[in-house]
Amino acid sequence: MAKIYVTRHIPEVGIDMLKDAGHEVEVSKKDGVLGKEELISALQEKPYDAVLCLLTDQIDAEVFDAVPTAMIFANYAVGFNNIDVEEATKRKITITNTPGVLTETVAEYTFSLILSLLHRIPEADAFTRAGKYEGWAPELLLGKNIAESTIGILGAGRIGQQVVKHAYNFGAKIIYNDIKQNEGLEKEVGAVYKKDINDVFKEADIISVHVPLLPATHHLVSKERLELMKESAFLINTSRGPVVDEKALVEVLRAGRIRGAALDVYEHEPKLAPGLIEFPNVIITPHIASATESTRGKMAELAAQNIIDMLKGKTPKHVVQ
Ligand code: DGY
Repeated sequence: MAKIYVTRHIPEVGIDMLKDAGHEVEVSKKDGVLGKEELISALQEKPYDAVLCLLTDQIDAEVFDAVPTAMIFANYAVGFNNIDVEEATKRKITITNTPGVLTETVAEYTFSLILSLLHRIPEADAFTRAGKYEGWAPELLLGKNIAESTIGILGAGRIGQQVVKHAYNFGAKIIYNDIKQNEGLEKEVGAVYKKDINDVFKEADIISVHVPLLPATHHLVSKERLELMKESAFLINTSRGPVVDEKALVEVLRAGRIRGAALDVYEHEPKLAPGLIEFPNVIITPHIASATESTRGKMAELAAQNIIDMLKGKTPKHVVQ
């Protein structure tokens, strides 16, 4: 019987899978993120063989030192920028993630942010609740049609491509930048590749960010690039906060240099850049793009399966190294 530590409660289905496979499972009792010291002392309690961790846990050399018996850290997320993968590889510790199962949910969520922003739904809701609605008016809260817009996708991986397909079905023109050109996608939906990322910033009416967080993508959406955007354009980020220079975003919003933004992720989560909450033309949500019951359950199953396979001596399906 192997010992597994789960750093926060996840949908029961994943925990049941680990138990049904005959393992001893210890789930953190804290209803919140464990601080570094708390995580280290929890891991030191037993010689755990596996750890199921979250994107809110910073997993580095000190954490690996706390539990030298662990052969796998299974991240409950597709993104794994919270883990020092290089250090894990040096120590022959396997790192896994949960790709695929959240693609459609995150794309759907991204698309709902785009539509809400273009049609000013949060603003309209706040206006109506505030008792300001005095009757139909020809120029009340005018929005923008997606079918008359060019959407610029940064990062045409699984989620980016799915957003592209929704945009295509809504009649938008699509441009994209990625390290790789995707001719299949171009044929399928008429997307146009922009080798120079700055061209996406200059030409798009809506920019949607779908790159992973890597040293090369930190502040990819920089002040200089935000200033290339059209004054009528919108920025949407459902990937990772530090891809956008959030302080610079507040500055361009304050200067009225872009029309609006929708963010589900933040540079210093859960903190927001000072000033960000002031703008009615900005939608801010708490990192929930993948949060449907079904998808969070599937993520739990996938993370558990990665551990079960590893403990059986098989290579898990979703190793990131
Ligand atoms: C991920 O999986 O990386 C998302 O950000 C959380 O669902």
